[in-house]
This record gives sequence, C-alpha cells and structure tokens, in this order.
Amino acid sequence: MPTTLTTGRLTLRTYRDDDAAALFDLHSRKEVQRWIGDGRPMTDPAEAANSIPRRRLPFPEPMGIWAIDLEERLVGTLLLKPIPISGSPLAADARSTDLALALQSPDIEIGWHLHPDVWGRGVATEAARRVLEHAADLPRIVAVTHPDNLPSQRVATRLGMADHGSTDRYYDTTTRLFVLER
Ligand SMILES: CC(C)(COP(=O)(O)OP(=O)(O)OC[C@H]1O[C@@H](n2cnc3c(N)ncnc32)[C@H](O)[C@@H]1OP(=O)(O)O)[C@@H](O)C(=O)NCCC(=O)NCCS
Repeated sequence: MPTTLTTGRLTLRTYRDDDAAALFDLHSRKEVQRWIGDGRPMTDPAEAANSIPRRRLPFPEPMGIWAIDLEERLVGTLLLKPIPISGSPLAADARSTDLALALQSPDIEIGWHLHPDVWGRGVATEAARRVLEHAADLPRIVAVTHPDNLPSQRVATRLGMADHGSTDRYYDTTTRLFVLER
C-alpha cells in the first residue's frame, strides 16, 4: 500500500473498494479516455471495480498508485510505477497484476488522470509535486503522453521534466516522452 501523502488541498491515499463508482464516472468519459491506453471508455461499472486490486499492487517504496481526494471527493489518480517497455509482456497486457513482471522494467513513470470537474485548478501538478518530493531519492522518472495531449504535456513541463520528443520505447505505441533527472 502506498504511504498516505497530503498537500494543502489534497489527500493521496490507497484505493478502496468503495471507490468503484467514482472511478467508473472518471473512466467512462470520452474526454478522459481519449488520452489513455486504447482510448476506449469503460462501459461496465464492473471494469472499474475489477481495476481496484491492480491499483493496490504493493509496489516497493516510494512507488505507488494513489487515489486523489479533494474536498472529500475522489477526483483522480496519481501513479508512480514501473513503465511497460514496448515488446514486453507487460506492454501487451496493461491490466496485468503480476508485480514481479512489472518490476522487470528499468524505468519508472509518473502519471495523472483527473476528473474533468477539476481540470484547470492545478490538482494534477500539486499531486505530482508531492509524489516527486516523496520519491526524492529516485534519480530518473519519465512521463509519457499521447502526442496531442497538450494539457498533460504542460503538467510535465511545469514539473520541470525535459521534453525528449517522440518515442516508441513504451506501451507498444508512439508517445511524447518527458524525463526528470536529478
Ligand atoms: C492531464 C490533466 C491531468 C491536466 O489537468 P489540468 O487541470 O490541466 O492540470 P493541472 O491540474 O496541473 O492544472 C493546471 C492548470 O490549472 C491552472 N491552475 C489554476 N489554479 C492553479 C494552481 N493553484 N496551481 C497550478 N495551476 C493552477 C493552471 O494555470 C493550468 O492551466 P493551463 O494548463 O491552462 O495553463 C487532465 O487534463 C486530465 O486528467 N486529462 C485526462 C487524462 C489524461 O490525459 N491523463 C494524462 C495521460 S498522459
């Protein structure tokens, strides 16, 4: 379970079973899913419920997948975890719960998914900054975005990540790569 983290506005905590409805509300939206994975919105609430064990995988510190609470509402996810390398079994199965397989990746990614209700309020940046502070000992962290996902690219830039342009190295697809080295 990830360590609970707080900021002025946010609590970042472990996912709970009762988060399923809010997760479905987030991932059944076209405007969110167009930037994530295969781009398909969830259509069955069971998909959200079934994703919760995957969100509680016991990644070693300082990694984790955090639910972000704002004003006592679940508004999104902040993740810091091994990133699937293209051509690997993990890239072929994004829903894998095989922790040993995940830990074979040499690279760690940071990522964010926020509910449209809270876009434009700096929530993604605030949550990511807190996780980067928590993970201060990690020398290199990557973020990958859909090539056209300018809001997400702005978050990465705001975090001080360097734009490395287009890459095919991750997720069996072409993404725009941002790297934080420290
Ligand atoms: C990517 C995503 C998280 C970005 O959300 P966002 O609200 O633009 O990002 P932040 O939470 O950091 O907010 C930054 C915006 O809030 C504004 N803002 C308002 N108050 C702020 C504050 N206190 N602190 C920082 N920014 C603030 C900023 O000016 C900025 O607006 P701008 O980008 O128009 O300049 C969101 O669009 C999203 O979840 N999209 C769908 C899923 C997705 O694409 N995930 C990423 C996959 S790679």
